[in-house]
Amino acid sequence: LHVAVLMGGWSAEREVSLMSGAGVAEALESLGHRVTRIDMDRDVAARLAEAKPDCVFNALHGTPGEDGAVQGMLDLMGLPYTHSGLTTSVISIDKQLTKMLLTPFGVPMPGGHVVQTQTLFERDPLPRPYVLKPVNEGSSVGVAIVTDESNYGNPISRDARGPWGEFDELLAEPFIRGRELTTAVLGDRALGVTELKPKSGFYDYDSKYTDGLTEHVCPAEIPDDVAQACMAYAVEAHRRLGCKGASRSDFRWDDERGVDGLFLLEVNTQPGMTPLSLVPEQARHVGMSYPQLVQWIVDEALG
Ligand code: DAL
Ligand code: MG
Repeated sequence: LHVAVLMGGWSAEREVSLMSGAGVAEALESLGHRVTRIDMDRDVAARLAEAKPDCVFNALHGTPGEDGAVQGMLDLMGLPYTHSGLTTSVISIDKQLTKMLLTPFGVPMPGGHVVQTQTLFERDPLPRPYVLKPVNEGSSVGVAIVTDESNYGNPISRDARGPWGEFDELLAEPFIRGRELTTAVLGDRALGVTELKPKSGFYDYDSKYTDGLTEHVCPAEIPDDVAQACMAYAVEAHRRLGCKGASRSDFRWDDERGVDGLFLLEVNTQPGMTPLSLVPEQARHVGMSYPQLVQWIVDEALG
């Protein structure tokens, strides 16, 4: 096959996407496929039209690439591509829309609401501790946990905008104490549950992509009912959002509350494929090598 690997782009997760794309391209070549690597720019359509691949492996993260824009372009061009389609991407990139769609189906997600960043300088949107995050970023870009001791200001001051200062609006959610869990879904199958134990206590960008800063416990050492619930919610979310190929659902679990303390934070429709990424790790755990995973995703796109 001739596969074009789309990567890079101009989102805040550009570097992560370049790592994902490099890994995917190398795996495809090791499988004997012809690969065209495309670092996405505004001429991407012309470059794809010229390359005429059999399939596009979408290794982009963030906007555009994970938000439906690239999916719409590929639909118009009639090119098969990996992962989720247009509508699913538009909804899933938006943490608030995702919540509105999934909670009626019984998937527990934290409450909270979108606030204008400007108002944060006057009052807290929720009792502390709470989390502020952009509605549509990934890799913890722009996420802040506001605690009583928070150095973002008390009350939040204009001089202490924190990492979210550049966003006009933010999602404010109650902070869920406890543990960080994640579940990959391939098609209709949940692969397992991994617990992330960041040394810093916060699974932020550096903890995600710097080797040695986070311990991955796979499978997670958690009660069976919690593990089963993670997998059931992840499959339900994948299905209700209409995801295709691989997705990854991220959870917080308040371990003092048993299975009732489990909350889905979001669904990633373009989960990372870097060497430290979680979908490849869970796949490995169920006996699927990285190249096998990449081939599965391509086959699914062409299926
Ligand atoms: N947003 C990153 C790439 C992830 O979900 O893995
Ligand atoms: Mg994410």
